[in-house]
Amino acid sequence: MKKFDPAFVFGTATSSYQVEGAVNKDGRSPSIWDTFAATPGKVYQGDTGEVACDHYHLYKEDVQLIKQLGVESYRFSIAWPRIFPNEGEYNEAGMQFYKNLISELKEQGIKPVVTLYHWDLPQWAEDKGGWVNRQSLEWFYTYAKKVFEELDGEVDSWITHNEPWCAAFLGYHQGVHAPGHTNVEEALKAAHHILVSHGQAVKLLKETMKSETPIGITLNLSPIYPVSQSFNDKIAANNADGYSNRWYLDPIFKGSYPADMVNLFSKYVHDFSFIHEGDLAEISVACDFFGINYYSRQLVEFTSAGDFMYRGGHSDYAKTGMGWDVSPKEFQELIRRLRKEYTNLPIIITENGASYPDKLTEDGAVHDPERMDYIKQHLQAIAELNEEGMNISGYYVWSLFDNFEWAFGYEKRFGIVHVDFETQKRTWKDSAKFYQSVVEKREV
Ligand code: NOJ
Repeated sequence: MKKFDPAFVFGTATSSYQVEGAVNKDGRSPSIWDTFAATPGKVYQGDTGEVACDHYHLYKEDVQLIKQLGVESYRFSIAWPRIFPNEGEYNEAGMQFYKNLISELKEQGIKPVVTLYHWDLPQWAEDKGGWVNRQSLEWFYTYAKKVFEELDGEVDSWITHNEPWCAAFLGYHQGVHAPGHTNVEEALKAAHHILVSHGQAVKLLKETMKSETPIGITLNLSPIYPVSQSFNDKIAANNADGYSNRWYLDPIFKGSYPADMVNLFSKYVHDFSFIHEGDLAEISVACDFFGINYYSRQLVEFTSAGDFMYRGGHSDYAKTGMGWDVSPKEFQELIRRLRKEYTNLPIIITENGASYPDKLTEDGAVHDPERMDYIKQHLQAIAELNEEGMNISGYYVWSLFDNFEWAFGYEKRFGIVHVDFETQKRTWKDSAKFYQSVVEKREV
């Protein structure tokens, strides 16, 4: 049995577009995900976030669920198009939803951790170029400022951005996320502006708000290994690591972009003048913690056909329903590497979890031993890391309940609570009961 010390925070997480629904309610305007989901062929079976878990209406019941789970903290995100449905037009009705949610959470003794950007860019911003346009810095600043002003002191921690790699590289390079573009140069600009907007928001909070609420950023990180020890496969792994991890880690913690990747990207991008003087200093602003979403390792092999000379390689590990390797040991290697090469900040695992093809059984239960085991193995890994002094201060299961899994729609279920999307009935899976008992005993 591994113990968690009293300061360790257990939580669960969701994001606005994935759970809220109510896309036309109280003055919200469309986000890029409404547009993307409405575009045929972009999301599995044409699913959209129109209703999702109807959390916008059911939040009180959902807070009860969180309370029953016994976790101390709930991580959610704010939908920017609810707050600014048009450029420069503040919408108090949209903000009210988050004020209500926060006061409900606090009444139940649950600490709100709030992400400012979890991918639902207002469509009006995209119409003006989205994150590719440097003006996005002003739009985000205005949004962040208003949110801070309205919620200062009410929130336990702030997260500026969730997984900028997905927002920028999946959205503007690979085209599998909104807005669905496939252009390396756009992706680099989007990534850069997202990172600068992070730095500016941190500075804004620190310099102008009364409370001393901790703030940080969350990256999705994946330890990457070559399928073989051949020279080419090792190059492939290095490039994949640069593309997925270092392009974000280096500017945040070292104040520079990795030179080998600048070199590689130069084949596609001839002008890096979108990086202005002073930007990297802003990006590498001091934060209070570092958020990591961890799901899986990646195995890669060399291909001369791929943009960056790599593609996924075959692995014989046990897989989740996403086809992702279950890899808690590699998670440990990742954390040790981060400690050695990047940061001493407290680390919060802001997401970890797994999708499996769950079934509601006749006894009204969902037996999900694989998810239980997945969560257990990762919690054990964290406890071991903490014994080594790695200072991981919290863990948030992704997700509280099944929800809109982006391009996979409702097909992929990550919840520890099952949602029947016809009736909105919530049913505890075995993994929720398991997590509840871990949290209660503070041991795994
Ligand atoms: C990370 C993202 O932040 C979240 O939105 C997504 O649902 C999970 N990964 C699972 O893919």
